[in-house]
Amino acid sequence: MVGCCFSCSLWFLLCLAALFIVSSESALNRYQFDVQVKNVSRLCHAKPIVTVNGRFPGPTIYAREGDRVVVNVTNYAQYNLSIHWHGLKQFRNGWADGPAYITQCPIQSGRSYVYDFNVTDQRGTLWWHAHILWLRATVHGAIVVMPKRGVPYPFPQPDAELNIVLGEWWHKDVEVIESQANSLGVPPSLSDAHTINGKPGPLFPCSEKHTYAMEVESNKTYMLRIISAALNDQLFFNIAGHNMTVVEIDAVYCRPFSTHALLLAPGQTTNVLVRTNQVPGRYFVAAKPFMDVPIPVDNKTATGILQYKGVPNSVVPSMPPLLSKNDVGFVKSFNDKLRSLNSPQFPANVPLQIDRHLFFTVGLGRDPCPTCLNGTRFIGAINNITFTLPTVALLQAHYSRISGVFTRDFPDRPPTVFNFTGAPLKANLGTKVGTRLSWIPFNSTVELVLQGTNLVGVESHPFHLHGYNFFIVGRGIGNFDPDKDPASFNLIDPPERNTIAVPTGGWTAIRFRANNPGVWFMHCHLEVHTTWGLSTAFLVENGDRPEDSLLPPPMDLPPC
Ligand code: C2O
Repeated sequence: MVGCCFSCSLWFLLCLAALFIVSSESALNRYQFDVQVKNVSRLCHAKPIVTVNGRFPGPTIYAREGDRVVVNVTNYAQYNLSIHWHGLKQFRNGWADGPAYITQCPIQSGRSYVYDFNVTDQRGTLWWHAHILWLRATVHGAIVVMPKRGVPYPFPQPDAELNIVLGEWWHKDVEVIESQANSLGVPPSLSDAHTINGKPGPLFPCSEKHTYAMEVESNKTYMLRIISAALNDQLFFNIAGHNMTVVEIDAVYCRPFSTHALLLAPGQTTNVLVRTNQVPGRYFVAAKPFMDVPIPVDNKTATGILQYKGVPNSVVPSMPPLLSKNDVGFVKSFNDKLRSLNSPQFPANVPLQIDRHLFFTVGLGRDPCPTCLNGTRFIGAINNITFTLPTVALLQAHYSRISGVFTRDFPDRPPTVFNFTGAPLKANLGTKVGTRLSWIPFNSTVELVLQGTNLVGVESHPFHLHGYNFFIVGRGIGNFDPDKDPASFNLIDPPERNTIAVPTGGWTAIRFRANNPGVWFMHCHLEVHTTWGLSTAFLVENGDRPEDSLLPPPMDLPPC
């Protein structure tokens, strides 16, 4: 009896140990996402919003590099929707990427879909969000990918970590706002508040319950994982009395630098280290918009509180110096400091030989619209093409060779050359509507210059590419000069990310290797511009080997 117990428990322990060894290799992380409508109150108003598991922001996905993540999404809301895992590369597995009508049809009300993916060769802070209509306003949350077990960060280990999700809040139902604006052809109403972890803070009415506070201990190092889930506003972020050391952008380690403020475009993430070495007190954390042209913007400041342990709530927090909304000087110097870490362990593998040079004009225009308020409506266009979503998912059409859904003739350059950033032309250049994809052979190296245009005005467009990170090798104001500008490209340690703001009235050059087969959406991450068609997609072909080919679709892929 005793012997049996002994040997049984020995076996049990051995099994446990074996399990642990296996799980330390790679683990399976399962989540259940119930998409449901919940009544939420902010700024003295209550309204029903679409949430995941009733939470706003939604739950955080935790995984380690190399893990498998399985998220069963069940849709109890009245809208059909899909979820995108922003910044996860989804190697060969576009089926789990999520943009509606690009890689999948949306999950219908009452149905489920399982997103099943591996987190390969990346670690850091990313986020997930609904990828249809404007639902991502409330349907979003953090993704934290830890390094593999036993692998340290390439910077001093923080004592603790906190997630900070920045957002935008509307009193009205965002879907009503979006559809009204679309039918009138005018820009939608501005948000009513910005939020920090879902809360606007004490500069707004009814703030008692709606202020995010993080309690910290003195003389510790905190890592803040900051995510911009804002819809339409680029946001400055700073903390009274504390500098931040930037160590990671878009889940890529970067060369550390110290700064008093950050800028995050919608879609971007930034990890910073903060040393709590100030007089114990209460310090405001602030998020407010950056807008460097006379376009209306929600200029309100969201605040949270960094609170040292033991300091009573009666202490009035100090406010950080707020940047003015058009502080282009700060933005330029901040961007100049962003570099890849480019260490032996985390090299910057910038493509040096380029197979394909693309030049895309990106901007807004105006099209005739007899039923609209001014007889015109705003449109977005890339190389004069306004993207229209198909009614069948592009990836499915590509995989199953369904014809008539898209063409693969998206032009490598605009149809006409003009002074792209000169005086506004007040209209457009005969924009064509279409679902045209840029066709890229497997493993080609691509250089893409995103050139802002001034048709109805300039502004900064934050472009996001699905399925890839890219290197930002150059940027400038005015028109890109293919003869001169490449000479100043940074091919050594350019920043690597998945979302980049093209400067107002300027250009940005990015490079990537097209080694991930599938259909990958690329769009302005200002939701208002995505709605207007400021997007396109790449069709990256399979390679010759099976391991370089798109995986087959899962059985439960939602039907249209
Ligand atoms: Cu974060 Cu296509 O989006």
